[in-house]
Amino acid sequence: MAEVTIDSTLQESRLFEPPAEFSQQAEIKSLAEYEQLYAKAKADPQKFWADLAETELHWFQKWDTVLDWQPPFAQWFVNGKINISYNCLDRHLTTWRRNKAALIWEGEPGDSRTFTYAQLHREVCQFANVLKQLGVQKGDVVGIYMPMIPEAAIAMLACARIGAPHTVVFGGFSAEALRDRLKDGKAKLVITADGGWRKDAIVPLKEQVDKALADAPTVKNVLVVQRTAQPIAMEPGRDHWWHDIRQGVSADCPAEPMDSEDMLFILYTSGSTGKPKGVVHTTAGYNLYSHVTTKWIFDLKDTDVYWCTADVGWITGHSYIVYGPLSNGATTLMYEGAPRASNPGCFWDVIEKYGVNIFYTAPTAIRAFMRMGDHEPNARNLSSLRLLGTVGEPINPEAWMWYHRVIGGERCPIVDTWWQTETGGVMITPLPGAIATKPGSATRPFPGILAEIVDLEGNPVPDHEGGYLAIQHPWPGMMRTVYGDPDRFRRTYWEHIPPQDGHYTYFAGDGARKDADGYFWVMGRVDDVISVAGHRLGTMEIESALVSHPAVAEAAVVGKPDEVKGEEVVAFVTLDPSFAPSPELSAELKKHVVQEIGALARPGEIRFSEALPKTRSGKIMRRLLRSLAAGEEITGDTSTLEDRSVLDKLREGA
Ligand code: WTA
Repeated sequence: MAEVTIDSTLQESRLFEPPAEFSQQAEIKSLAEYEQLYAKAKADPQKFWADLAETELHWFQKWDTVLDWQPPFAQWFVNGKINISYNCLDRHLTTWRRNKAALIWEGEPGDSRTFTYAQLHREVCQFANVLKQLGVQKGDVVGIYMPMIPEAAIAMLACARIGAPHTVVFGGFSAEALRDRLKDGKAKLVITADGGWRKDAIVPLKEQVDKALADAPTVKNVLVVQRTAQPIAMEPGRDHWWHDIRQGVSADCPAEPMDSEDMLFILYTSGSTGKPKGVVHTTAGYNLYSHVTTKWIFDLKDTDVYWCTADVGWITGHSYIVYGPLSNGATTLMYEGAPRASNPGCFWDVIEKYGVNIFYTAPTAIRAFMRMGDHEPNARNLSSLRLLGTVGEPINPEAWMWYHRVIGGERCPIVDTWWQTETGGVMITPLPGAIATKPGSATRPFPGILAEIVDLEGNPVPDHEGGYLAIQHPWPGMMRTVYGDPDRFRRTYWEHIPPQDGHYTYFAGDGARKDADGYFWVMGRVDDVISVAGHRLGTMEIESALVSHPAVAEAAVVGKPDEVKGEEVVAFVTLDPSFAPSPELSAELKKHVVQEIGALARPGEIRFSEALPKTRSGKIMRRLLRSLAAGEEITGDTSTLEDRSVLDKLREGA
C-alpha cells in the first residue's frame, strides 16, 4: 500500500455531557473514573485483564500465564479451562436470574417467544446432545445458516458447549458464498431452517443449503429447524428435522471444559482480495472481552431490556446479541424482521411493546429512518429508552443529531462504537456515564486498548492530522489468526507498519484522526480515501457534508481518475422524497460541499440515484461506484450485493 496522508477537514464542535442522572447510576460514573481505569490498564495490562478474568468469569481451572505474546500470535490465559456456554447459562441458574428472561424474541409476522435462563439452558443442552448424536465431536466445525430465530442463538451456544467451533454464515448470502465458507472451514454439519421471514417474504434457506452442498463434501448432516413451514426437500439420511430428532433426547449435557485458546468460532469477512478471510476467535479471551465491553459500554442493569438489531451472522450479533449480554445475565432481545413497506415503523413498535431500554443499531439504518420521516417514531412511545448505540461505519453528525433528538428524546447518551470482526469487541467508544460525546466521534479507547494514530512507520501523527488507526498492545478479544492462513494474518494486519525491535502494531485499515481532547474521529477505510490534487480526503467527510443538506438522504463519494488532479470527487446522491433531481440542485449541492469543507472537496459530478449499492450488512460498495464513475465495466465479486437491480438502474442513469 502506498503511503498516504489523509487530510481531515470536517469540524464538529458540539459537545454533549453525560446527563447527571445517567452518570449517577452508571458502571463508570465520571471522566476521572475512566481516566483512572485507563491509566491502571495501561500501566499493567496483564494485571488489569487477569483481575477482570478472575472476578467476571467462571473457570473450571485457572490459567498459569496471562499472556504469551509471540508476535503476531497471542495466547491469553494459557492453560485455563473454561466454557463460554457455562458462563452464559449455567452460572446464572444458581442465582435469582434462573427465572429471568434471557432471550425475548419477536418474529416478523408478530409471533413471539421468551426463554428464561433455565429454559434456554435446557434447550441448549438438548440441542448439544443432538449434535453429539449426529457425530459432532470437540473440534469439528459446524456451519450455521439461519434466520433470526431463537434457535440461531441456541445452536451457537450448543456448539460452544461441546467445543465444536461454529461458523455462522449470514442468511442473506447466496448458495455460492455459503459453499465457499463451508468448504474453507471444512464444516461437518450444517444447521439451518426451512426459511425465514424477511420483508413479508420467505427467504428459502434450505434450498440454498441444498445447492451449496452439491459441492461441499465435508458436510455429512443437516439439521433443519422448522420456521416457515413451506414444503422443502429433505434428503433421507442427510437431513434431519430438529423437532423430530429431539424427541426423547436428554437435556442433561455438562459443558465441556475447554482450553482457553481452543477455537470458539470462525467468522468470514471480506478482504481486499476476492477470497474471504476466516477470522478465528478463541474461547477465554473472547469471553472476557465481549463480557466486559458489554457491561461497561451498555451499562447493563438487571431490569433492562437490551436490543441489538444486528444479524447473528455478523460479529455484532455474536458479541452483542448472544455472548456478551448472556454472559452478563442480561435480557437480550432478538427481532426477526426488518423495516418494510407494510410496516416501516416496526422497530419502534418493538421498542414500545417490550419497553426496550438500550437500543444498538447501524448508521445506515438511522439514515433510512430519517428519510422515512419523524412521524413513524413520533407515533410510538419510546420513553423507555435510556441509552442508544451505533456501530458499523462512521455516523455523520446529521444522523447522530437526529438519533439524539427524535429517538433519544435528547435524554439518552449515544455510544458510537468503533470496532471490527477482527477485534472481537468494541475498541473505541464513549463509556456513557463518563465520556462526553461529540457527534461523529467514537471518542476514546476502551480501558486496556492502546489506540494511536500513526504514519506508515508507526510514528504517532500530531493532533488533527489524519493517519492510520493502530493498536499497540495485544488485547484478549483480538483475532488469533486467519483460518488456515497464518501468513495472510501476518501480512494483512501486522506488516503494513513495519515491526520495530520486536514491537508489533496492529493495523486496522481505517483512516482516523485525534483531536486535542484525545477523541478519535474515524474517517473510513483507507482504501476509501480520495486524493484530489495531492490532498487526501476521507470519503465520509464529503458524504457527511452532503447529507447535512436538507435535500440529501444518503450520499456515497468515490474518486474518479483525473489527469490533472489525480482524482476527482464523484458523489452518488439519494434525495429526500420531497426533492427532485435538477441541474440547479446539483450546483447547489456542490456549493454546499465547498461551504462545509472547502473548494478542494468540490464534487466534479453529482449523480442522483434512487438507491445505492450496498452489501447485505448495509455497507456501501464503493468499489462498484468507482467503476461506474470511471465508466468501466464492473468486474470482480458482486455476490455480497443486497439488491442487484440497483446496479442496473445506476448504469441506465449514467
Ligand atoms: C467500520 C463491525 C466508524 C470500520 C463491528 C471498521 C466504523 C469496519 C465503526 C469493521 C464506527 C465499524 N465508526 N467506522 N463506530 N464501526 N466501523 O468487521 O471501517 O463488519 O474497520 O465490524 O467497519 O466492520 P466489521
